[in-house]
Amino acid sequence: MTSSPLAEKVPKPLKELTQSFTESVKATGIPDAIFSHEHESEAHKMWRSHANHSGDSSQPHPVPGIQSSQATGVIYITNRAQAAGFGPGVEGWANCGQGAPETGLIPGAAPKPSTLDFGEYGDDIHEYAPTAGFKPLREAIADYYNREFRQDKSMKYGPENVCVVPGGRGGLSRIAAVLGDINLGFSVPVYSAYEQMLSAFSRFVPIPTQTEAKNGYTLTAEEIRKEILGRGLSAFLLSNPNNPTGRQIHGQELADLVKVGRDTECSMILDEFYSWYQHTGELGKAVSAARYVEDPNEDPIILIDGLTKNWRCPGWRVCWVVGPSELVSALSAAGSFLDGGASHPMQCLAIEMLKPERVEADRLALQRHFRMKRNHVLERLEKMGLSIANPPDSTFYIWVDLKSLPAPLTSGMVFAEEALKEKVIVVPGIFFDVNPSRRRNILHSPCESYSELALVPRKSCICVTCSTMTDRSPSLPLRQSDFRLALHSKSLTWVWMASKG
Ligand SMILES: Cc1ncc(COP(=O)(O)O)c(C=O)c1O
Repeated sequence: MTSSPLAEKVPKPLKELTQSFTESVKATGIPDAIFSHEHESEAHKMWRSHANHSGDSSQPHPVPGIQSSQATGVIYITNRAQAAGFGPGVEGWANCGQGAPETGLIPGAAPKPSTLDFGEYGDDIHEYAPTAGFKPLREAIADYYNREFRQDKSMKYGPENVCVVPGGRGGLSRIAAVLGDINLGFSVPVYSAYEQMLSAFSRFVPIPTQTEAKNGYTLTAEEIRKEILGRGLSAFLLSNPNNPTGRQIHGQELADLVKVGRDTECSMILDEFYSWYQHTGELGKAVSAARYVEDPNEDPIILIDGLTKNWRCPGWRVCWVVGPSELVSALSAAGSFLDGGASHPMQCLAIEMLKPERVEADRLALQRHFRMKRNHVLERLEKMGLSIANPPDSTFYIWVDLKSLPAPLTSGMVFAEEALKEKVIVVPGIFFDVNPSRRRNILHSPCESYSELALVPRKSCICVTCSTMTDRSPSLPLRQSDFRLALHSKSLTWVWMASKG
């Protein structure tokens, strides 16, 4: 009996495929086992040899007296991409490394202000703004929290509970600058810039707690209580919603977390930069611990947010920290020697951004837009054979578990290097395993087999990304680099097998 042409297209059994696949990997010289030490991996060695990633602080800096700080993981991978030809305006690249909100107009959002009448504010606008911020803006921020999250609470936030800061990292640095000789807990994986921030201020001891896939990459309030009591923590830092896992503590669990802070007298520092990026539940809602604070001046709850992500204005550098008034005084003092305060004119312009009608329209537009992107990319990843067990419920990141791929692509570092050959920028998971002492074999990091993928600004880019990685036509001759990535993505294994005949 002769088989029909259609029958020939029926996929081969998985075992057979895997076997021929393994043989092909061997033929390329790529080891088929996971490395046991980072010294065996070119990708890891390259990263270690990059300025200041050696973990050896005894190496002198060429400029006397300087000990340069490490560049963040995103900068490292962007530099690697630049070495491979990536740059502004260069076609064909998909940058899923640098997470960025859509800064242009999105459907349904209010157009951003394009002018500022300095005259309206008088000559004072050219003066320094107070290091705690321009009072009318502080009032507008307090009103925002009271209106959005605290209508039912008798105790409200006031301007004395708000400190305007020059950007999110500026605010986090001010917080770090006022922490005392304490143990500071934090959960990992987390926003990679925390690493440098936690290293730069040496008074406190940062103590990580790893979140796990089986728990959806979040900690319960009870687990955090145990960490606080067991390790003697006086403050706990959480990115909530979390960059990079895209998961968050919300609802009753968040209420319980606020209570844990109150009961244990441990300051909860909640980085809420992605509080509007909600992918599930009713459209138009945001998540903030502000909803569960009873007394703004007594509860040790410190919130940080700003125009960077939710308002889609990262370049404005206008952000804020909200908490007890005594904290605001300390942050204001830190601002007087750290940064001198946020730009006065931009703070004036920011008042417009806090107007209720604008907030409502923008948040709705943002959620519609980013839910569409998130669903699109998840669907495409699924088709590639990279199904996401814990899809993001928030943020614009996807935390991709690479364990289902053949080694060595199970390593986020190797995966990122291979992806660069396909003009796709992704960030290796280890950069989010914030490890301020930098002393361990990084292959032992629980984040080693992960990669972060950011939902890139334009939909067209997402298509480039996914098509680069999944839709290469079988009829195209395969270059060595195609072959290597193709081999390592299950769906492309199919394509390659098909093209081989
Ligand atoms: C979790 C988190 N916090 C803070 C920031 C910093 O914001 P900014 O760019 O305003 O410094 C970012 C930016 O990526 C972030 O992801």
